[in-house]
Amino acid sequence: MTSRFDQKVNRRGTNSMKWDGVDQLYNGENLWPMWVADMDFPAPSEVIEAVQQEVSRGIYGYPVRSSSVDKAVQSWLKRRFDWDVEPKHLVYTSGVVPTLSQIIKLFTEPGEKVIIQPPVYYPFFKVVTNHDRKLVENPLVYDGDRYKMDLEHLKSVIDKQTKILILCSPHNPVGRVWTEQELHELAQICIEHDLLIVSDEIHCDIVFNGLKHLPTASISEEMRNRTITCMAPSKTFNLAGLQTSYAVIFNSTLRREFQKHLSQEFMNMFNSVGTVAMEAAYNEGEKWLDELISYVEDNVRFVQSFIEEHMPKIKVVHPEGTYLLWLDCTDLGMTSSERKQWLTEQAKVALSNGIVFGKEGEPFERMNLACSRETVLEGLNRLKKAYDVLT
Ligand SMILES: Cc1ncc(COP(=O)(O)O)c(C=O)c1O
Repeated sequence: MTSRFDQKVNRRGTNSMKWDGVDQLYNGENLWPMWVADMDFPAPSEVIEAVQQEVSRGIYGYPVRSSSVDKAVQSWLKRRFDWDVEPKHLVYTSGVVPTLSQIIKLFTEPGEKVIIQPPVYYPFFKVVTNHDRKLVENPLVYDGDRYKMDLEHLKSVIDKQTKILILCSPHNPVGRVWTEQELHELAQICIEHDLLIVSDEIHCDIVFNGLKHLPTASISEEMRNRTITCMAPSKTFNLAGLQTSYAVIFNSTLRREFQKHLSQEFMNMFNSVGTVAMEAAYNEGEKWLDELISYVEDNVRFVQSFIEEHMPKIKVVHPEGTYLLWLDCTDLGMTSSERKQWLTEQAKVALSNGIVFGKEGEPFERMNLACSRETVLEGLNRLKKAYDVLT
């Protein structure tokens, strides 16, 4: 049976970073882009129609926050995560990374410490160091199969200067969906040391095989009070270019401070078209999303069996969520720069080189599977051809 996601869309010549920026960025030619985290799928038709209607008005003035968008977000969080959030807890922002950056700037002083858990989404490093805050790394532990948080190491790196832990949940790039038990254990340490938790949950909507994403702030009253949750419809519905996101902040002191800060930085405006898209996506995109999750999960299975059969020196780290696949390339015996060169020059496939996610990512590559099966297969065939020459 064919799926709507089987349809291939030509994105070349559309000012797409993924397709039009790839050759220049990777310094190659005719590269097959399976890197940056955006999807090759059009958003749900309901979203496209709502955006078209908004755009057809022809007037793009300053928007005012609408209660219908608030309700759409509130209802989404309740339906998908059984999470009770009031409109007053929401702060609209223009991108999760800018939100993280402003949180670090506001809630820490230069020289204070912020913890991240690599291998992790690479801007987490810069949102800390760009503001002259001290980056503290608590690397995830990999047992050759699955990743875990290293809570003993976490305890050992916290001191009086440590103020914030940035959690990636689900975790890009390793695809972990943190369990309730893991979140409780982490929470205990954060509470004991009075840390603010910044929980980046941008990937929360794409979770596989019956697993459930649990918002960090939902696990206890104490966590509700010390967590800032960053969310967006952008990964879920392919809306990243519309720069629309929000923070959920229950603690009224933190929320007021953050709102005041955004206003002082002149960052309290939001994208009018983006909020229209978000409202339509959350109100009408659920069926599309459920189909998407199952399509991506099939892509994962497809890649996993292809790699097992044809490229056994590459090991797939089984993802629990996200459309990003983490490939353990240790047995290829190349350094990350050798591998990058091999991928660009021989395979002509652009993956995200694991080292950008931290030194722990050295022997890994990240592959984006939010594309049609045909696109996946082209990437795999290119890889296999180069692999066969290599081995
Ligand atoms: C964990 C994580 N946070 C944030 C972002 C980007 O968010 P934004 O485009 O809203 O800044 C990404 C994109 O891949 C991501 O993986």
